[in-house]
Amino acid sequence: MASLPSTQKGVVINKTGGTDVLEYKTDLPVPAPAAGQVLVKNDYLGINYIDTYFRTGLYKPAQFPYVLGREAEGTIVKAGGGELYGLKEGDRVVWLGEAAYAEYTAVPADKVYKIPDGIPPKVAAAALLQGLTALSLVREAYHVEKGDWVLVHAAAGGTGLLLVQLLKAIGANTIGTASTPEKVELARRAGATHVINYSVEDVKAKVLELTGGAGVAAVLDGVGKATFDLSLESVARKGTLVSFGNASGAVPPFAIARLSARNTRLLRPTLFNYIATRAEFEAYAADLFGFAARGELDFRIHDTYPLSEIARAHADLEGRRTAGKLLLDPTK
Ligand SMILES: NC(=O)c1ccc[n+]([C@@H]2O[C@H](COP(=O)([O-])OP(=O)(O)OC[C@H]3O[C@@H](n4cnc5c(N)ncnc54)[C@H](OP(=O)(O)O)[C@@H]3O)[C@@H](O)[C@H]2O)c1
Repeated sequence: MASLPSTQKGVVINKTGGTDVLEYKTDLPVPAPAAGQVLVKNDYLGINYIDTYFRTGLYKPAQFPYVLGREAEGTIVKAGGGELYGLKEGDRVVWLGEAAYAEYTAVPADKVYKIPDGIPPKVAAAALLQGLTALSLVREAYHVEKGDWVLVHAAAGGTGLLLVQLLKAIGANTIGTASTPEKVELARRAGATHVINYSVEDVKAKVLELTGGAGVAAVLDGVGKATFDLSLESVARKGTLVSFGNASGAVPPFAIARLSARNTRLLRPTLFNYIATRAEFEAYAADLFGFAARGELDFRIHDTYPLSEIARAHADLEGRRTAGKLLLDPTK
């Protein structure tokens, strides 16, 4: 293995706020992997909505300076010793962790997965966090059965397009929502039974019409504040509302007595509690990359941004101008 540089490109924040707090650096130290870690030279970094929560302060960064980013695809260039789950230098991997917005990241090995042969770097980079999220939502948050009616908000988003495809594969009837005609068309092509433009249409009326007045068995809601009431009103008797994100803001506290109107189950899951153990992570990742290897999931990449243009990427994501996955190239 060639010798490693001592400095690298990366993006840090020293305070929370708007996109102006994102600082692109060319002289960050390259970390050394501790025991139980591997050092990965990242090819492509995945952007996720959660990155904006840490930037704005909705979720609190552990310290400053803080390197954003939760996932990447690359090659292991140094192994730290200790339990590495069979991972070794030269392995092409995807990983979940922290400090992804950089050329090199030292990552705990328990959330590193060796990519099966034949899966291109960008596909692997686009797949992991949103793919595992989508799988865990349809399997564990609400175990979707063939024939279920399911409402998916932001159906043309990174997570949304994967949810729609998985629901189609299960044989569920998916009602998607999206904000523009172009996004409506993308979600429809991904396999939704019907897609509602929630900028202009009456979502509840359409959901009741499509489901014969019953409502849906489950709502998968990553939009949060703006759609919570609508989601609650769209669930069938004994249905499930899975609120899994805050793209429009955090859902404010609410009176649980409202759940009794239709005996609704309410869940607020995070991916990391479904893949907490190495066995859980490996099983989900193997499943996900099985879909990818068989070509059964299309990982739509909205764009690959230079890392130096991180502010533009965040602005596009928060400005609802993207459909599918946003990637970063850390070399540019
Ligand atoms: N719980 C977990 O473990 C977990 C894991 C992954 C993701 N998530 C959550 O899943 C959601 C989607 O994440 P993602 O990374 O896949 O992002 P994304 O869906 O690609 O982007 C967010 C989308 O949300 C919609 N949206 C609606 N209101 C919005 C608003 N006021 N501001 C911005 N966007 C708005 C937009 O679609 P339209 O233009 O069509 O409305 C936008 O494209 C996020 O809430 C994220 O936090 C949660």
